[in-house]
Amino acid sequence: MPEGLTKLDLQDFSVTPLAGALGAEVCGLDVTTVKDLSPELNCLFLSHKVLTIRGQALEPAALLAFSKLWGDVHFYPYMTGLPEEPQVFEIVTAPDAKRVFGNRWHSDQMYDAHPCKATLLLAKDLPSVGGDTIFTDLEAAYDALSNGMKAMLAGLRIHCDPADKTRYGGKTRAEWYAGDDMSEKLNGKDQSPPVGIHPLIRTHPETGRKCLFVGDQVQRFEGLSLEESAPLLAYLMIHIQQPEFTCRVRWEPGTLVMWDNRCTCHYAVADYVGEFRRMHRVTISGDTPY
Ligand code: SIN
Repeated sequence: MPEGLTKLDLQDFSVTPLAGALGAEVCGLDVTTVKDLSPELNCLFLSHKVLTIRGQALEPAALLAFSKLWGDVHFYPYMTGLPEEPQVFEIVTAPDAKRVFGNRWHSDQMYDAHPCKATLLLAKDLPSVGGDTIFTDLEAAYDALSNGMKAMLAGLRIHCDPADKTRYGGKTRAEWYAGDDMSEKLNGKDQSPPVGIHPLIRTHPETGRKCLFVGDQVQRFEGLSLEESAPLLAYLMIHIQQPEFTCRVRWEPGTLVMWDNRCTCHYAVADYVGEFRRMHRVTISGDTPY
């Protein structure tokens, strides 16, 4: 346990691990009282990677204020934000929606040249059951590889194309969500953005730990064709989903979850057909992966 946590323990909130690999539940903390990012709070985030903070009935301005303690807000070009706070996005699944946002293993905006550092997601309306989010620890996934595999993967770089139509049934993102509530929130600018190219073995800029930076947004490895990349990619995607590397967040209205996109992937579980789910999201700018 990192040194700084003892100070936090003295405060009036509790921190309970969610699973062996990653994730913690924080109860009794009012994030509106947090006015700066202390080393202890950052340490809590870095050590657990996913913080599930219960009981935060935040208006968009308050969510944004807490989010900004973690860095500049990431510019997300594919959606329009809330009218009152354009840097806060609404993720909605209507009862008649044909698609669910985020039900694939990914790290947010890993196709960007500077994928975002962190995401803060606040539950506003939830289905009666289901709609959980599962996280996986890409550092644990890297650590579990053999030395031979680590050596083989060391020089590889991933290609992540935000306009890749293979993920969207041969359609653009905007076409895929057409007719759903999310279509009103997408701005259609996903036709020809640049391709993000990153090291497969990524080093965390704050902890120095290595992770297996892979997810559903990766199409291939640099210098390898799609066909040549596919078997290794498929192996790595299965590898990162091992239950031992994961934790599962069960949302309640007012649950605020923040996660470290530099070393985790997540999957929004689409198991609430015919029900409504509404979340508010802010993403924080990240570094150039190395
Ligand atoms: C996301 O992928 O950013 C959304 C996750 C969720 O809705 O649980």
